[in-house]
Amino acid sequence: MTEYLYEEYKGVYLPTLIYPQESLKFYEDFTFRQDDILIVTYPKSGTTWMQEIVPLVQSGGDLSPVLTVPNWDRVPWLEESRARTLNLEQRESPRLFATHYQYDMMPASFFTVKPKVIYLMRNPKDVFISSYYYHGMASFLVNPGTQEEFLQKFINGEVIYGSWFDHVKGWLNAKDQDCIMYISYEEMILDLKDSVSRISQFLGKTLDNEVIEKIADHCVFKNMKQNKMSNFSMVPTGFMDQNKSGSLRKGIAGDWKNHFTVAQTEYFDAAYNDKMKDIKYPFVWD
Ligand code: A3P
Repeated sequence: MTEYLYEEYKGVYLPTLIYPQESLKFYEDFTFRQDDILIVTYPKSGTTWMQEIVPLVQSGGDLSPVLTVPNWDRVPWLEESRARTLNLEQRESPRLFATHYQYDMMPASFFTVKPKVIYLMRNPKDVFISSYYYHGMASFLVNPGTQEEFLQKFINGEVIYGSWFDHVKGWLNAKDQDCIMYISYEEMILDLKDSVSRISQFLGKTLDNEVIEKIADHCVFKNMKQNKMSNFSMVPTGFMDQNKSGSLRKGIAGDWKNHFTVAQTEYFDAAYNDKMKDIKYPFVWD
Protein backbone atom coordinates (compact mmCIF):
# COMPACT_ATOMS: atom_id res chain seq x y z
CA MET A 1 0.00 0.00 0.00
CA THR A 2 1.44 3.38 -0.96
CA GLU A 3 -0.52 4.85 1.91
CA TYR A 4 2.12 3.62 4.33
CA LEU A 5 0.61 5.56 7.24
CA TYR A 6 -2.48 3.36 7.02
CA GLU A 7 -3.25 -0.29 7.20
CA GLU A 8 -6.36 -2.12 6.23
CA TYR A 9 -8.44 -3.51 9.09
CA LYS A 10 -11.87 -5.12 8.65
CA GLY A 11 -12.05 -3.62 5.16
CA VAL A 12 -11.21 0.00 6.00
CA TYR A 13 -8.04 2.09 6.31
CA LEU A 14 -6.90 3.01 9.79
CA PRO A 15 -3.91 5.19 10.72
CA THR A 16 -1.34 2.80 12.15
CA LEU A 17 0.27 5.33 14.44
CA ILE A 18 -2.74 5.89 16.67
CA TYR A 19 -4.38 2.49 16.20
CA PRO A 20 -1.59 -0.10 16.55
CA GLN A 21 -2.41 -3.83 16.32
CA GLU A 22 -2.45 -4.31 20.12
CA SER A 23 -5.13 -1.62 20.43
CA LEU A 24 -7.34 -3.15 17.77
CA LYS A 25 -7.00 -6.48 19.56
CA PHE A 26 -7.82 -4.82 22.90
CA TYR A 27 -11.05 -3.49 21.36
CA GLU A 28 -11.88 -6.86 19.77
CA ASP A 29 -11.75 -8.42 23.24
CA PHE A 30 -13.40 -5.53 25.05
CA THR A 31 -16.37 -6.33 27.30
CA PHE A 32 -19.14 -3.75 27.34
CA ARG A 33 -21.57 -3.12 30.17
CA GLN A 34 -25.21 -2.54 29.40
CA ASP A 35 -25.12 0.95 30.89
CA ASP A 36 -22.06 2.05 28.91
CA ILE A 37 -22.72 5.08 26.73
CA LEU A 38 -21.05 5.02 23.37
CA ILE A 39 -20.75 8.02 21.03
CA VAL A 40 -20.46 6.71 17.48
CA THR A 41 -19.52 8.92 14.56
CA TYR A 42 -17.91 8.94 11.16
CA PRO A 43 -14.82 11.18 11.65
CA LYS A 44 -15.46 14.95 11.51
CA SER A 45 -19.16 14.65 12.31
CA GLY A 46 -18.98 16.42 15.69
CA THR A 47 -17.48 13.76 17.96
CA THR A 48 -15.62 16.32 20.07
CA TRP A 49 -18.83 18.28 20.53
CA MET A 50 -20.66 15.21 21.81
CA GLN A 51 -17.67 14.37 24.05
CA GLU A 52 -18.40 17.70 25.75
CA ILE A 53 -22.18 17.38 25.95
CA VAL A 54 -22.58 13.83 27.25
CA PRO A 55 -20.28 14.23 30.30
CA LEU A 56 -22.12 17.45 31.18
CA VAL A 57 -25.48 15.69 30.95
CA GLN A 58 -24.11 12.95 33.18
CA SER A 59 -22.68 15.44 35.69
CA GLY A 60 -25.96 17.36 35.82
CA GLY A 61 -24.27 20.48 34.42
CA ASP A 62 -21.23 20.47 36.73
CA LEU A 63 -18.47 21.76 34.43
CA SER A 64 -15.55 20.20 36.30
CA PRO A 65 -15.34 16.95 34.25
CA VAL A 66 -14.90 18.90 31.03
CA LEU A 67 -12.68 21.62 32.48
CA THR A 68 -10.25 19.24 34.20
CA VAL A 69 -10.07 16.07 32.07
CA PRO A 70 -8.98 16.01 28.41
CA ASN A 71 -11.70 14.74 26.09
CA TRP A 72 -9.61 11.72 25.06
CA ASP A 73 -9.60 10.51 28.68
CA ARG A 74 -13.10 11.55 29.69
CA VAL A 75 -14.69 9.85 26.65
CA PRO A 76 -11.91 7.65 25.26
CA TRP A 77 -11.92 6.26 21.74
CA LEU A 78 -11.94 2.51 22.22
CA GLU A 79 -9.80 1.82 19.16
CA GLU A 80 -7.13 4.35 20.04
CA SER A 81 -3.83 3.31 21.61
CA ARG A 82 -4.54 5.21 24.83
CA ALA A 83 -7.64 3.15 25.68
CA ARG A 84 -5.50 0.18 26.79
CA THR A 85 -3.73 2.30 29.38
CA LEU A 86 -6.77 3.77 31.13
CA ASN A 87 -7.96 0.81 33.24
CA LEU A 88 -11.39 1.08 31.70
CA GLU A 89 -12.53 -2.12 33.45
CA GLN A 90 -12.19 -0.26 36.74
CA ARG A 91 -14.20 2.79 35.74
CA GLU A 92 -17.51 3.38 37.46
CA SER A 93 -20.71 3.05 35.49
CA PRO A 94 -21.92 4.58 33.36
CA ARG A 95 -18.70 4.61 31.37
CA LEU A 96 -18.49 6.98 28.41
CA PHE A 97 -16.75 5.94 25.21
CA ALA A 98 -16.37 7.05 21.63
CA THR A 99 -15.71 5.07 18.49
CA HIS A 100 -15.56 5.70 14.75
CA TYR A 101 -16.16 2.04 13.90
CA GLN A 102 -18.65 1.03 11.26
CA TYR A 103 -21.49 -1.12 12.62
CA ASP A 104 -20.11 -4.38 11.30
CA MET A 105 -16.68 -3.66 12.79
CA MET A 106 -18.02 -3.63 16.35
CA PRO A 107 -16.66 -6.31 18.71
CA ALA A 108 -18.73 -9.35 19.70
CA SER A 109 -19.59 -8.03 23.17
CA PHE A 110 -21.34 -5.02 21.66
CA PHE A 111 -23.95 -7.21 19.97
CA THR A 112 -24.71 -9.28 23.05
CA VAL A 113 -24.55 -6.60 25.76
CA LYS A 114 -26.25 -3.82 23.73
CA PRO A 115 -24.93 -0.68 25.43
CA LYS A 116 -26.49 2.72 24.73
CA VAL A 117 -25.36 4.39 21.50
CA ILE A 118 -25.63 7.98 20.39
CA TYR A 119 -25.08 7.93 16.63
CA LEU A 120 -24.21 11.42 15.41
CA MET A 121 -24.36 12.16 11.69
CA ARG A 122 -23.42 15.21 9.63
CA ASN A 123 -23.98 16.41 6.08
CA PRO A 124 -21.32 14.45 4.19
CA LYS A 125 -20.29 17.49 2.15
CA ASP A 126 -19.38 19.30 5.40
CA VAL A 127 -17.75 16.13 6.71
CA PHE A 128 -15.67 16.08 3.54
CA ILE A 129 -14.53 19.71 3.89
CA SER A 130 -13.79 19.33 7.59
CA SER A 131 -11.84 16.17 6.85
CA TYR A 132 -9.90 17.82 4.03
CA TYR A 133 -8.66 20.53 6.39
CA TYR A 134 -7.96 17.97 9.10
CA HIS A 135 -5.81 15.92 6.73
CA GLY A 136 -3.81 19.07 6.03
CA MET A 137 -2.91 19.52 9.71
CA ALA A 138 -2.66 15.99 11.21
CA SER A 139 0.70 14.32 10.59
CA PHE A 140 -0.68 10.80 11.17
CA LEU A 141 -2.96 11.10 8.12
CA VAL A 142 -1.86 10.90 4.48
CA ASN A 143 -1.48 14.07 2.50
CA PRO A 144 -4.94 14.59 0.99
CA GLY A 145 -3.65 16.04 -2.31
CA THR A 146 -5.94 18.50 -4.05
CA GLN A 147 -9.57 18.88 -3.00
CA GLU A 148 -10.51 17.17 -6.28
CA GLU A 149 -8.26 14.19 -5.55
CA PHE A 150 -9.50 13.89 -1.99
CA LEU A 151 -13.11 14.06 -3.19
CA GLN A 152 -12.57 10.97 -5.35
CA LYS A 153 -11.09 9.10 -2.42
CA PHE A 154 -13.91 10.19 -0.11
CA ILE A 155 -16.64 9.08 -2.50
CA ASN A 156 -14.86 5.76 -3.08
CA GLY A 157 -14.33 5.19 0.65
CA GLU A 158 -10.54 5.17 0.23
CA VAL A 159 -10.15 7.17 3.42
CA ILE A 160 -9.87 6.35 7.10
CA TYR A 161 -12.85 4.40 8.40
CA GLY A 162 -14.00 3.72 4.85
CA SER A 163 -17.05 5.09 3.13
CA TRP A 164 -19.27 7.68 4.83
CA PHE A 165 -22.18 6.09 2.96
CA ASP A 166 -21.48 2.61 4.34
CA HIS A 167 -20.94 4.00 7.82
CA VAL A 168 -24.27 5.82 7.96
CA LYS A 169 -26.22 3.05 6.23
CA GLY A 170 -24.74 0.41 8.51
CA TRP A 171 -25.69 2.25 11.68
CA LEU A 172 -29.11 3.31 10.38
CA ASN A 173 -29.86 -0.34 9.63
CA ALA A 174 -28.56 -1.53 12.99
CA LYS A 175 -30.49 -4.10 14.99
CA ASP A 176 -31.76 -3.25 18.47
CA GLN A 177 -32.49 0.37 17.65
CA ASP A 178 -34.11 0.87 21.08
CA CYS A 179 -30.58 1.27 22.38
CA ILE A 180 -29.62 3.83 19.73
CA MET A 181 -30.33 7.53 19.54
CA TYR A 182 -29.87 9.09 16.10
CA ILE A 183 -29.09 12.78 15.93
CA SER A 184 -27.39 15.08 13.46
CA TYR A 185 -24.86 17.89 13.71
CA GLU A 186 -27.34 20.10 11.87
CA GLU A 187 -30.06 19.53 14.50
CA MET A 188 -27.54 20.52 17.15
CA ILE A 189 -26.66 23.68 15.21
CA LEU A 190 -30.35 24.51 14.74
CA ASP A 191 -31.34 24.03 18.38
CA LEU A 192 -28.65 23.01 20.83
CA LYS A 193 -30.89 23.28 23.89
CA ASP A 194 -33.45 20.96 22.36
CA SER A 195 -30.66 18.54 21.38
CA VAL A 196 -29.21 18.54 24.90
CA SER A 197 -32.71 17.93 26.26
CA ARG A 198 -33.27 14.98 23.90
CA ILE A 199 -29.86 13.52 24.76
CA SER A 200 -30.62 13.78 28.49
CA GLN A 201 -33.98 12.06 28.01
CA PHE A 202 -32.33 9.26 26.06
CA LEU A 203 -29.78 8.84 28.86
CA GLY A 204 -32.52 8.79 31.48
CA LYS A 205 -31.38 12.03 33.13
CA THR A 206 -33.97 14.55 34.18
CA LEU A 207 -32.42 17.99 33.98
CA ASP A 208 -33.91 21.36 34.87
CA ASN A 209 -34.27 23.92 32.16
CA GLU A 210 -31.50 26.09 33.67
CA VAL A 211 -29.09 23.13 33.61
CA ILE A 212 -29.91 22.42 29.98
CA GLU A 213 -29.32 26.09 29.20
CA LYS A 214 -26.01 26.04 31.08
CA ILE A 215 -24.81 22.97 29.16
CA ALA A 216 -25.89 24.39 25.81
CA ASP A 217 -24.20 27.71 26.60
CA HIS A 218 -20.92 26.03 27.51
CA CYS A 219 -21.05 23.88 24.36
CA VAL A 220 -21.64 26.56 21.73
CA PHE A 221 -18.70 26.68 19.39
CA LYS A 222 -17.12 29.96 20.55
CA ASN A 223 -17.19 28.88 24.21
CA MET A 224 -16.13 25.28 23.70
CA LYS A 225 -13.25 26.37 21.50
CA GLN A 226 -11.75 28.10 24.56
CA ASN A 227 -11.66 24.88 26.59
CA LYS A 228 -8.09 23.61 26.44
CA MET A 229 -9.30 20.18 27.61
CA SER A 230 -11.31 19.93 24.39
CA ASN A 231 -9.61 22.05 21.72
CA PHE A 232 -6.57 19.77 21.27
CA SER A 233 -4.19 22.64 22.10
CA MET A 234 -2.31 20.23 24.41
CA VAL A 235 -1.45 18.00 21.43
CA PRO A 236 2.09 18.66 20.12
CA THR A 237 2.25 20.68 16.89
CA GLY A 238 4.22 17.89 15.22
CA PHE A 239 1.13 15.71 15.55
CA MET A 240 -1.64 18.24 14.92
CA ASP A 241 -0.54 21.59 13.56
CA GLN A 242 -3.26 24.03 14.56
CA ASN A 243 -1.38 26.82 12.78
CA LYS A 244 -2.49 25.17 9.56
CA SER A 245 -6.11 24.61 10.61
CA GLY A 246 -7.88 24.54 13.95
CA SER A 247 -9.23 21.27 15.20
CA LEU A 248 -12.35 23.19 16.16
CA ARG A 249 -12.15 24.92 12.81
CA LYS A 250 -15.37 26.71 11.84
CA GLY A 251 -18.23 24.91 13.55
CA ILE A 252 -21.01 25.72 11.10
CA ALA A 253 -23.42 23.83 8.87
CA GLY A 254 -23.08 24.38 5.14
CA ASP A 255 -19.42 25.43 4.87
CA TRP A 256 -19.20 23.13 1.84
CA LYS A 257 -20.91 25.88 -0.18
CA ASN A 258 -17.79 28.01 0.25
CA HIS A 259 -15.58 25.26 -1.17
CA PHE A 260 -17.37 23.09 -3.74
CA THR A 261 -17.40 23.97 -7.45
CA VAL A 262 -20.65 23.43 -9.36
CA ALA A 263 -19.13 20.33 -11.01
CA GLN A 264 -18.04 18.92 -7.64
CA THR A 265 -21.52 19.49 -6.23
CA GLU A 266 -23.12 17.67 -9.15
CA TYR A 267 -20.64 14.82 -8.86
CA PHE A 268 -21.20 14.52 -5.12
CA ASP A 269 -25.01 14.70 -5.43
CA ALA A 270 -25.10 12.00 -8.11
CA ALA A 271 -23.00 9.67 -5.94
CA TYR A 272 -25.08 10.51 -2.87
CA ASN A 273 -28.42 9.90 -4.61
CA ASP A 274 -27.21 6.60 -5.95
CA LYS A 275 -25.63 5.28 -2.75
CA MET A 276 -28.40 6.51 -0.42
CA LYS A 277 -31.40 5.65 -2.60
CA ASP A 278 -32.67 2.90 -0.28
CA ILE A 279 -32.44 4.98 2.88
CA LYS A 280 -35.64 6.62 4.07
CA TYR A 281 -34.18 8.52 7.04
CA PRO A 282 -35.23 12.23 7.10
CA PHE A 283 -31.78 13.81 6.99
CA VAL A 284 -31.95 17.51 7.83
CA TRP A 285 -29.61 18.37 4.96
CA ASP A 286 -31.85 16.76 2.30
P1 A3P B 1 -15.39 22.00 11.07
O1 A3P B 1 -14.06 21.50 10.59
O2 A3P B 1 -16.40 22.06 9.96
O3 A3P B 1 -15.31 23.29 11.81
P2 A3P B 1 -14.98 15.66 15.08
O4 A3P B 1 -14.99 16.11 16.49
O5 A3P B 1 -15.86 14.48 14.80
O6 A3P B 1 -13.59 15.50 14.58
O7 A3P B 1 -15.64 16.84 14.23
C1 A3P B 1 -14.98 18.06 14.08
C2 A3P B 1 -15.96 19.08 13.56
O8 A3P B 1 -16.92 19.41 14.58
C3 A3P B 1 -15.25 20.38 13.18
O9 A3P B 1 -15.99 20.93 12.09
C4 A3P B 1 -15.42 21.16 14.47
O10 A3P B 1 -15.25 22.55 14.31
C5 A3P B 1 -16.87 20.81 14.81
N1 A3P B 1 -17.21 21.14 16.19
C6 A3P B 1 -16.57 20.79 17.33
N2 A3P B 1 -17.14 21.36 18.41
C7 A3P B 1 -18.19 22.07 17.94
C8 A3P B 1 -19.18 22.92 18.57
N3 A3P B 1 -19.19 23.13 19.88
N4 A3P B 1 -20.11 23.50 17.77
C9 A3P B 1 -20.10 23.31 16.45
N5 A3P B 1 -19.19 22.54 15.79
C10 A3P B 1 -18.24 21.94 16.54
